[in-house]
Amino acid sequence: MSDKIFVFDTTLRDGEQVPGCQLNTDEKVIIAKELEKLGVDVIEAGFPISSPGDYKSVVEISKAVSDPVICALTRAVEKDIEVAADALKYAKRGRIHTGIGSSDFHIKHKFKSTREQIIERGVAAVKFAKKFVEDVEFYAEDAGRADNEFLARMIQAVIAAGATVVNIPDTTGYCLPWQYGSKIKYLMENVNNIHQAVISVHCHNDLGMATANTIAGIQNGARQVEVTINGIGERAGNTSLEEVAMILQTHQMGLHTDIQSRELNKISKLVSTMMNMPVQANKAIVGANAFAHSSGIHQDGVIKHRDNYEIIAPEDVGVDQSSIVLTARSGKAALRFHLTRLGYDLNTKELEEAYQKFLILADGNKDIGDDDLQHMMEGRLVSNNVNIIDVQVVSGSNLKSMATVELDLDGEKHSASESGKSAINAALRAIDKIIGEHMVLDKFDVDSLVHGRREGGKVKIRVLYDDKLYFGYGEGDDLVMASVQAYVDAINKMRFSKNEKTGKVVGMAS
Ligand code: KIV
Ligand code: ZN
Repeated sequence: MSDKIFVFDTTLRDGEQVPGCQLNTDEKVIIAKELEKLGVDVIEAGFPISSPGDYKSVVEISKAVSDPVICALTRAVEKDIEVAADALKYAKRGRIHTGIGSSDFHIKHKFKSTREQIIERGVAAVKFAKKFVEDVEFYAEDAGRADNEFLARMIQAVIAAGATVVNIPDTTGYCLPWQYGSKIKYLMENVNNIHQAVISVHCHNDLGMATANTIAGIQNGARQVEVTINGIGERAGNTSLEEVAMILQTHQMGLHTDIQSRELNKISKLVSTMMNMPVQANKAIVGANAFAHSSGIHQDGVIKHRDNYEIIAPEDVGVDQSSIVLTARSGKAALRFHLTRLGYDLNTKELEEAYQKFLILADGNKDIGDDDLQHMMEGRLVSNNVNIIDVQVVSGSNLKSMATVELDLDGEKHSASESGKSAINAALRAIDKIIGEHMVLDKFDVDSLVHGRREGGKVKIRVLYDDKLYFGYGEGDDLVMASVQAYVDAINKMRFSKNEKTGKVVGMAS
């Protein structure tokens, strides 16, 4: 049996069925070309009968892509198959993917039919598709819950009718790995023409088992995996392409894919952005934290030897390097690592002193950035001499936004009111009026935080003052307050810097 695992990507069909993820044809062509670079064997480009957009996408992807097989989905219905064949007319190698339900749930409650009639419909669909293309894949929908003896009869009949690939979908994500693996084993042992076709595994993630089930399937004889980038797909999603590819690359199972793993991070970001579907930070392989180390013990271990806490080299999946995130839980090894990177070569005593300062700094901040470390090393441990006393804002669709801000500035109370384009803008302008300095707001990023019915955000801003950049951070349930905190944080850093240069406290507005 071959040791090559064929990768069938269904991001543009099963993935794209997700509400809010719809793409236009041009966008699908961009992703299809990236999938070709990634090295997938088959691209499922759409379900042509379902909409003119899907039809057009199959046509355009067939024209734009030459290496992978282009596949079009149908039901076991002649009209679907005719339309799919027509959409595939430009494909160098086209495949029709037809099929019908195989579980008793589907047979009785969806098709109101019998097992024997369903086999006949499946066989007829394969024979009809064979009139148009040589390569016909048959899917036995909901095979995960189908009776194995019936499923084996169905699969044997469709292979005899000409199916080249037989897809055994766990449509509802029901199976456990040992159950799904033994289903594939059963088919390998009980379908007497099974070697005339490739078994394909198509798993959904309703119980978080999609990748494990896919691996169980290939361990038992399947040689094609149906997957999506970032695991997107109906409900809890499909099997993630990147997880399967990296499992086969990491473990010596005697199996391989043709996936160019260094492309994974790039295509993950492209799909996430285009489909408007954020990747969870702790997602395996492509999540923002997949190569980020934050606890002191892990940071120390990874700095001593990367293999201590990393089983995949980040560059193998297209990530530049692992990150050692500095937080209050970081240890001295992580601090030394970053300070060395910034050009500070410290002896043990100096590191100890720096670490004590760092702990104070880290206590009041979420993440410590390079600018914070630089300030700290220059002996400028920022202590706030601008503090927020009160912020009041008024805004509405027919009102100009107004803000009144009261600040404690070097121990004295000052307040100012300003109008602005938004409540945040008005509040920042009121602060400018109190501080009396001309700062340029250079960057303003908000990461939203949603806790149940409470919403808020983390605000990161950057201000330019006297040719230098100062960073500020704030967070909370109220975005105006988080923004004010971030702005005041940056102002405190700016005032420290200026104070040091002039040797006195910065002047206030008169
Ligand atoms: O999950 C499923 O059963 C499918 C088929 C249409 C292949 O997506
Ligand atoms: Zn599916």
